[in-house]
Amino acid sequence: MEPVNLSEFEPLARAKMSSMAYGYYASGADDELTLSENRAAFQRLKLAYRVLVDVRRRDASVQVLGHRLPSPVIVAPTAFHQLADPEGEVATVRAAGKAGTVMVLSTLSNRPVEEVTQAASGPVWFQLYVYKDRGSSEALIRRVEAAGCRAIVLTVDAPILGRREADIRNRFHLPEGLAAANLYGDQEGKVGRRSGDSGLAAWVREVLDPGLTWKDVEWLRGVTDLPVIIKGIVRADDAARALEHGASGIVVSNHGGRQLDTAVATIEALPAIAEELALRGAGDEFALLLDGGIRRGTDVVKALALGAKAVLIGRPVLWGLAGEGQRGVEKVLAMLNAEVDTALALCGAPSVAELSRDLVI
Ligand code: FNR
Ligand code: LAC
Repeated sequence: MEPVNLSEFEPLARAKMSSMAYGYYASGADDELTLSENRAAFQRLKLAYRVLVDVRRRDASVQVLGHRLPSPVIVAPTAFHQLADPEGEVATVRAAGKAGTVMVLSTLSNRPVEEVTQAASGPVWFQLYVYKDRGSSEALIRRVEAAGCRAIVLTVDAPILGRREADIRNRFHLPEGLAAANLYGDQEGKVGRRSGDSGLAAWVREVLDPGLTWKDVEWLRGVTDLPVIIKGIVRADDAARALEHGASGIVVSNHGGRQLDTAVATIEALPAIAEELALRGAGDEFALLLDGGIRRGTDVVKALALGAKAVLIGRPVLWGLAGEGQRGVEKVLAMLNAEVDTALALCGAPSVAELSRDLVI
């Protein structure tokens, strides 16, 4: 049956995937409380809509980091798209391009960054995980710049990997023939089978640097001229620090509930962060973004009303990709964008500029 909402893509994807791959995409950390709370928190918020507003013409477009996007929905960085589709991230970036939106490409992609930007017709931002070996990280940043990526999204909520029980149970590993393509040397990119553990958790422990601090944000800004966005913030004081350290934006994110379980839902963290940034004089050009549990147009409208400039979606893109490849991702983006349009009309907010805080109760 053809899905009529984002959630209905998941069972279609599941039917086509191995239980190891499905478990990796779907799972959250520990008891998956944050995973479900990200959704529940959106569902608790209510919309106090305006009436008798002329909504014949609606415009969902937003300005983010100098890009004019037709809608406020961006593709979140997620690892290993070839677990969903043989074309992997190349299929995803083509779909993002068709929707006119940004794709954030994970460090842990199966297709190398150069192949992805080649296939792109819209902006690609690069999500960075920093290796213990800073030389390799700098070399990767040079590749990312040369490939034409327009921003670096530094993920800061994963110094080690959260405990995802499905991955431990399934001994998660990349199947033969798949690797993390942005890494160096034959061995480093292989995420192999480990006894008694998730192969990815073990790989992260070995290769990525859990010692990252705010000083490293300065290091990063010193080695690249690309704008830096910090992803994984849920506190107002950390948002203020990001601003102080010269970030061009942040993603309010708890990694889709995959890292610290019982972490606060992102939509609940957003208002205090938006307020703090306003107090500190963050300009309109500062990219305050949010992800986690966005499944409905009304979720997007709530996030924007509470101060986000745009939102990112993770799993729905993967479900579309696993179900129907590029076409599936196109459908997911088009469906959510159509819901955003409906929500704007019914809120009496013909453009995102009219999405004010008082719409949300
Ligand atoms: C992720 N996420 C993620 N984030 C990141 O910075 N780098 C990464 O490589 C990945 N990989 C990844 C894989 C999978 C399978 C998932 C589900 C998520 C987190 C992602 O960017 C985003 O924060 C969440 O997915 C948002 O929540 P929803 O939309 O999935 O609810
Ligand atoms: C994940 C890492 C790779 O969430 O970001 O699986």
